[in-house]
Amino acid sequence: MEQFETVEMSTDLLIIGGGMSACGAAVEAVHWAKDRNIKVLLVDKAAMDRSGAVAMGLSAINTYLGVGKEGGNSPEEFVDYVVNDQMGVIRQDLVYDIGRHVDSSVHLFEKWGLPIWKDEEGNYVHEGRWQIMINGESYKFIVAEAAKNALGMDNILERVFIVKLLMDEKRPNTIAGAVGFSVRENQFYVIKAKAIIMCCGGAVHIFRPRSVGEGMGRTWYPPWNAGSNYAMIAQVGGKLTQMESRFIPTRFKDGYGPVGAWFLLFKSRATNAFGENYIETRVEEIKPWEPYASHKPVPTPLRNHQMILEMVEGKGPVYMRTEEAIANLAAEYKDDPKMFKKKLKELESEAWEDFLDMTISQALLWAATNIQPEKQSSEIQASEPYFIGSHASCSGAWCSGPADIAPDEYKWGYDGDKSVTYNRMTTVNGLFAAGDGCGGNAHKFSSGSHTEGRIAAKAAIKYILNHNEEPAIDMSKADEWKAEIYKPLKTYEEGKSLTVTDDINPNYILPKMFLFRLNKIMDEYVGGTSYWFATNEKMLEKGLEYLEMLKEDSEKLGARDLHELMRAWENYHRLWTAEAHLRHVLYRQETRYPGYLYRSDYKGLDEENWLAFTISRYNPETGEWEMSKVPVIDIFGVIGKK
Ligand code: FAD
Ligand code: ADX
Repeated sequence: MEQFETVEMSTDLLIIGGGMSACGAAVEAVHWAKDRNIKVLLVDKAAMDRSGAVAMGLSAINTYLGVGKEGGNSPEEFVDYVVNDQMGVIRQDLVYDIGRHVDSSVHLFEKWGLPIWKDEEGNYVHEGRWQIMINGESYKFIVAEAAKNALGMDNILERVFIVKLLMDEKRPNTIAGAVGFSVRENQFYVIKAKAIIMCCGGAVHIFRPRSVGEGMGRTWYPPWNAGSNYAMIAQVGGKLTQMESRFIPTRFKDGYGPVGAWFLLFKSRATNAFGENYIETRVEEIKPWEPYASHKPVPTPLRNHQMILEMVEGKGPVYMRTEEAIANLAAEYKDDPKMFKKKLKELESEAWEDFLDMTISQALLWAATNIQPEKQSSEIQASEPYFIGSHASCSGAWCSGPADIAPDEYKWGYDGDKSVTYNRMTTVNGLFAAGDGCGGNAHKFSSGSHTEGRIAAKAAIKYILNHNEEPAIDMSKADEWKAEIYKPLKTYEEGKSLTVTDDINPNYILPKMFLFRLNKIMDEYVGGTSYWFATNEKMLEKGLEYLEMLKEDSEKLGARDLHELMRAWENYHRLWTAEAHLRHVLYRQETRYPGYLYRSDYKGLDEENWLAFTISRYNPETGEWEMSKVPVIDIFGVIGKK
């Protein structure tokens, strides 16, 4: 223990994470903090330039409304889209709040240097109604630069993994700080804070991925977000919502290339192996999910469901008809051979760029498997489940909404005083969440997550001004926390000489083996790809039993170095996320999201009982999970609107 120095730090606002929402939070927090003598510190487990889901870059900004512009959309229309895409269970107050502010984040990105595609009149080129095209390879770099400029490097800790949150010793249910460790240096951090914004993204590798063995690590969701948001919020008693809402993206098979540009910009069809367009041929099969089935566009889970039926009935592979789409788009120029050739080249290069901007591996896979998109179709497939509350799913913390829109049931302030509400505050005082961490609020994507970081930061600064008290943390416990965090190193050292190969040992379990076990349990009992996303009460109860045993074994996690120590704690966060997910799946007795999750014992939609948010709370005092539901309030009257 002596070799690890304890670094004690104190700040007013702590931002945990360095991704899209954290960068938004940083820029906004500094704006409100700078003349008020308020300190802001950001801690990221990686390097901000390339951390989080946007690391590789993106090819589109999926949330842009164009409010007030010709042909633009209103925030109310955005609410209608999101609510119906997500089968009704959405916090309309939170979505509206994103809708009314998101354009300003996009305009900032452009000001900071992000190239956005423009047409001849200088308007943004839309991929679809809500999405605009970008040259986004350096998207994260640009957004991070603005955050760094705002904060200054002295107020940023990179490569420090936050393991757990600390509660105030004097004030009940109030946040006071966090502890973590450097993954590069022998430094252990105890950080005191008056408010914290959780910006740790979603979770991947909870379920066994389709790519195993030599393909391990190739998932749609980049491998570095491990459910830290969900785990750490739950551990301190913060309520989670919609943790059953996992996301199953339909993607180009094995490389996980995005489909949005193909469906929306290139107007491509997807068909089964016999050329049948399942969106048209399987209309009847989604009817049980009315009123949502008739909404345009068809909700994402229902589109998935139609595709999955093709596979289950033996009509795969399913193909994206890229060659047909390119031919259709070029056909407009068929009477002018020169223009026709030029247009074809242009479309080909756009097709490759879509992948090179954000999923380079798909371009490599195309090259490696001799795919020429203008000549042949490519397979698409439903991938393994992920947790990403900012995409077409909405897992996350149960957060307070905007004071002017949220009904009383959806907003709260200090000691429950509703006249002082804090937007995006979780049910723990002073603890806020944004991006993938804020639940019930889908379709934020990169721009909406940045926006939500900004919204949360403004509220957090207000909270600090109203509660400007020193956090009460008992520093005499620092050695205890330190020993707990570095324990996997000790466990490994003490046990390593007992076996010849160090990955199999009776005294410890290495993070990779732990991960494999978690993945197997989740895949087989909680509806992973092997089971085509289906499970039932009995399976879930069995799965929970195995998770309990894995939890016991987490005490024996071993780590050979600092990097593996991070892997150990990531997997611990995954375990908590997995348990929260399982408990929510068990609680929601219906199949609301076919294509994402099937309850074989409750096959249909049950609007009467389940048009509601599922809420879980881990009780830190008793160690028990408490489940409840909160009715959906249709603030804008959009549910089931055609
Ligand atoms: P992230 O941006 O992922 O940031 C999470 C941060 O938390 C990272 O900095 C990470 O290092 C840090 N972190 C995690 N755990 C810890 C810990 N324990 N301690 C300290 N730091 C921690 N959006 C679009 O608009 N257009 C697209 O085309 C698009 N494509 C996408 C493609 C993929 C493959 C994925 C996964 C997402 C895509 N999105 C897209 C969505 C977008 O990336 C997310 O909405 C957005 O990144 C969410 O922001 P966030 O801040 O919640 O998480
Ligand atoms: S990405 O963000 O990971 O790249 P994806 O490529 O699937 O996602 O989708 C980009 C955007 O297009 C998202 O807003 C998604 O909801 C939307 N989208 C994708 N496919 C369709 C479709 N067939 N119909 C309507 N919207 C779609």
